[in-house]
Amino acid sequence: MTHTPVAIVGAGPAGLTLSHLLHQYGVESVVFESRSRAEVEETVRAGVLEQGVINMMRETGVGERMDRDADIDDAIDISINGARTRIDLKALTGHQMAVWPQHEYLKDFIARRLADGGTILFETSVDDAEGWDGDKVVINYTNADGTHETMTADYIIAADGSKSPYRAPILELDGAVRARHEYEYAWFGILVNGPQTQKELIYATHEEGFALISTRTKDVQRYYLQCDPNDTVEQWSDERIWEQLHTRVDGNGLAVQEGEIFDKSVLKFRSAVTDPMQRGRLFLAGDSAHTVPPTGAKGLNLAVADVAVLAPGLARALTKGNDDLLTKYSELAVPRIWRAQHFSYWMSSMLHSVPSQGYFQHRRRLAELEAMLSSEAGRRYQAEQYVGLDLPKFEI
Ligand code: PHB
Repeated sequence: MTHTPVAIVGAGPAGLTLSHLLHQYGVESVVFESRSRAEVEETVRAGVLEQGVINMMRETGVGERMDRDADIDDAIDISINGARTRIDLKALTGHQMAVWPQHEYLKDFIARRLADGGTILFETSVDDAEGWDGDKVVINYTNADGTHETMTADYIIAADGSKSPYRAPILELDGAVRARHEYEYAWFGILVNGPQTQKELIYATHEEGFALISTRTKDVQRYYLQCDPNDTVEQWSDERIWEQLHTRVDGNGLAVQEGEIFDKSVLKFRSAVTDPMQRGRLFLAGDSAHTVPPTGAKGLNLAVADVAVLAPGLARALTKGNDDLLTKYSELAVPRIWRAQHFSYWMSSMLHSVPSQGYFQHRRRLAELEAMLSSEAGRRYQAEQYVGLDLPKFEI
């Protein structure tokens, strides 16, 4: 039977970043991933990196491709009925943001882990794990070829996304909570072969609903339209999509650039926070613990912030025999998660029109947005939240 200091379930942003950061501290780990490498590297998700994440990538040797190919932007635009206000993130906070799709981020970390001799077991599913309340964790898993094996670990990290089965044992603890919020709207997302509408992102609000202009590369664009959570892909013809994008975004000399739509999907809006994020030798990281709605693209950034606490905590415990940081994981991670929840909720609520809210709430919402945009203090507050807090740093 093999043993690993840290077993990580899930090769997403939380799991791969953790494995990479642990390696920087000289701690080895095994990553279990039920999907194939190709599937992980192709799944389309959001794509904004905060300055802290950009810095971490550069400092730990995974930033080269991002620096070469990502759009690194100084600003975002917020548009009300076609009138755009620029929020100069760089001037207001000294920080920038990168538009670097999550699957590109994952490609960099997979390549780097493998180059560093790390173990990522693709197409391998963990069947069950137990023992986190004792002195070691036992993991039963099925390999790609269907054979069953068992591994032991000092710690197990559930970085396996919002459907994680590992939340349940934590929620059995006295006082544990899973706080949730549902939204009345969703996003319809498309990928387009075509030229950029604008290099910097545009968050647009309009009577007919929200729209977001984002990008993937010079030739591939990512656009979103507010839609009903029950909408299906069939209800959104190409014609309807372009008509709505033009209606919601065009103005002040700018028009959405059309192209060939090659992907359509509906993104649900949900907020959830799990507290605590630990039970004995079991830890949650990323979406297994918390979900944010896509507005502001905090999901990946929060996953990285979790493991920026967890990696030094685990390294200190495993190499120094001192678990003081590790036992404070929830206490250190949860306040930042609530701040990101608040920001994602606030930005969503200012930008989306909700039919059930009526005229009073509609005008109040626009007044809130205008008040924020017309004050430098307001724009700075927005910019600070958008670029995010620096990642926590700990000596081990
Ligand atoms: C994206 O490019 O997918 C994206 C960008 C900004 C957001 C959300 C999603 O706030």
